[in-house]
Amino acid sequence: MVNRDEFIREVTIRICSSLEIKESLRNTFVYLREQLPLDELFLNIVDQNLGALRRIAYVGTEGSETPDEIIPLPEEIVERIKERCFREPFIASADMDDQIFQTMAPLIKLEGNSDMIVPLHLDSEPIGGLTLRAHGEGRYSEEQAEIMGYVTRPFAIALANALAHEAVLRYQDILLDDKRFLNRELYGHLGEEIIGGNTGLRNVMEAVRQVAPLNSTVLLLGETGTGKEIIANAIHFSSPRKDGPFIKVNCGAIPESLIDSELFGHERGAFTGAVAETRGRFERAEGGSIFLDEIGELPMTAQVRLLRVLQSREVERVGGKRAIPVNIRVIAATHRNLQNMIGEGSFREDLWFRLSTFPVMIPPVRQRKEDVPALTRHFVTVKSRELGIGMPPSIAPGALMRLMEYDWPGNVRELENLVERELIRHRGGALTFDTVLSGEERRSPVAAVEEGRPHLPLKLDEAMAAHITEVLKLTSGKIHGPGGAAELLGMNANTLRWRLDKLGIAYRRKSR
Ligand SMILES: Nc1ncnc2c1ncn2[C@@H]1O[C@H](COP(=O)(O)OP(=O)(O)OP(=O)(O)O)[C@@H](O)[C@H]1O
Ligand SMILES: [Mg+2]
Repeated sequence: MVNRDEFIREVTIRICSSLEIKESLRNTFVYLREQLPLDELFLNIVDQNLGALRRIAYVGTEGSETPDEIIPLPEEIVERIKERCFREPFIASADMDDQIFQTMAPLIKLEGNSDMIVPLHLDSEPIGGLTLRAHGEGRYSEEQAEIMGYVTRPFAIALANALAHEAVLRYQDILLDDKRFLNRELYGHLGEEIIGGNTGLRNVMEAVRQVAPLNSTVLLLGETGTGKEIIANAIHFSSPRKDGPFIKVNCGAIPESLIDSELFGHERGAFTGAVAETRGRFERAEGGSIFLDEIGELPMTAQVRLLRVLQSREVERVGGKRAIPVNIRVIAATHRNLQNMIGEGSFREDLWFRLSTFPVMIPPVRQRKEDVPALTRHFVTVKSRELGIGMPPSIAPGALMRLMEYDWPGNVRELENLVERELIRHRGGALTFDTVLSGEERRSPVAAVEEGRPHLPLKLDEAMAAHITEVLKLTSGKIHGPGGAAELLGMNANTLRWRLDKLGIAYRRKSR
């Protein structure tokens, strides 16, 4: 064993080496492994609220099984651990003559392993523990336990910081929701005028007027960019719930592993104080509405939970024991054909029944071309303001007629992006949209590249659009997952979707 001072110094430097607890634990692991038998290292808390052992961070060698993050414990064991108030590092084994460890051994898979447990305290309050595990029995000595006793403090501080960090992230999220809500209160009704409410969207607006005052679940259907979100806003803000929260969730944007706890909440430790309550988005929508956008992207486990919420109006948090009643209105949206998804087995039929009590179909722009002139004028005004153009330019005669001839596969969003680009390029006079209308915009740069005669120089955005379009062709429109465009381009699928929206390229959200 190295000398004591050097040991303390090395461990302290490593456990403080990163803000990311998993990263610093890994650095520490690498060093400790040179000094002691070590195959796995855990940072744990005994979560009183949850009645469970919760793993805050974990590092293992290759071949170590990834541990469960939450291990429910019998109530009397939680009590006993609290009473015992372990102080010094000790060695635990499966055949130990100790009631706590006899009960815990199978739960924490102690059999065949040696564990050294290092209790962690802050201001003499127990906050958790560090577990060193070596595969095989009888691997640790009392002397090694003693030396670990020298470094409890840096570990305790690292654990406390990790928990505080978790709490901050949680707060940040809650504040962001509040901010969105307050912003909308202040500015929301400006600039969110619905164009075509008496013409192309007449039936849609009629449905909105009918359903808004009720509590019914609404399912908004329509191609990408048709205005599903703007209609969801209209429903919430013309309903009796308009003064309550309006929580939006893009089901396709949350990683699958997090979606359950994001939506339904997660039980958590008392240590985190006020943030012990980790309400999911459903709970945060209490008294208001929740908008589940891209509902077709919801993984199966979340579909099951959602069904339960719709049936019983109760939420069960992940790892929780009780059902929490919620008073919410659910608005869901998708551009996908859910019935096809049911056929493929990727969407639950019973959930579809629950969701489709009041479906609202938003027609694509090509079926309501009469709205194109009003939409164009609307975006010229709104975008001029956003771009700081004092006097919105006029639209050249004939331009609107020609805009109406186009089919708009990206719907209103495509038109919106087009107007913005036209304004950015605009150098005086009336807006002619002639690059678009002569087919230049549509053919170039993508078509030009295809024909092997790219216009040079291309703008960066144009080159990017052309390249992405090429890649999408290769993947037959597939964005996400193995062999998808995101993978080929070496970028995150959501970032790619965002960029496609920005560039005004129409695409399928997720293909199977
Ligand atoms: N009728 C309308 N009047 C004014 N603006 C509209 C209208 N319909 C859509 N928009 C605008 O067009 C853009 C796209 O609309 P929205 O985000 O609601 O579409 P979406 O159907 O949710 O699309 P996606 O499926 O891609 O999420 C938004 O900026 C929205 O404000
Ligand atoms: Mg949308």
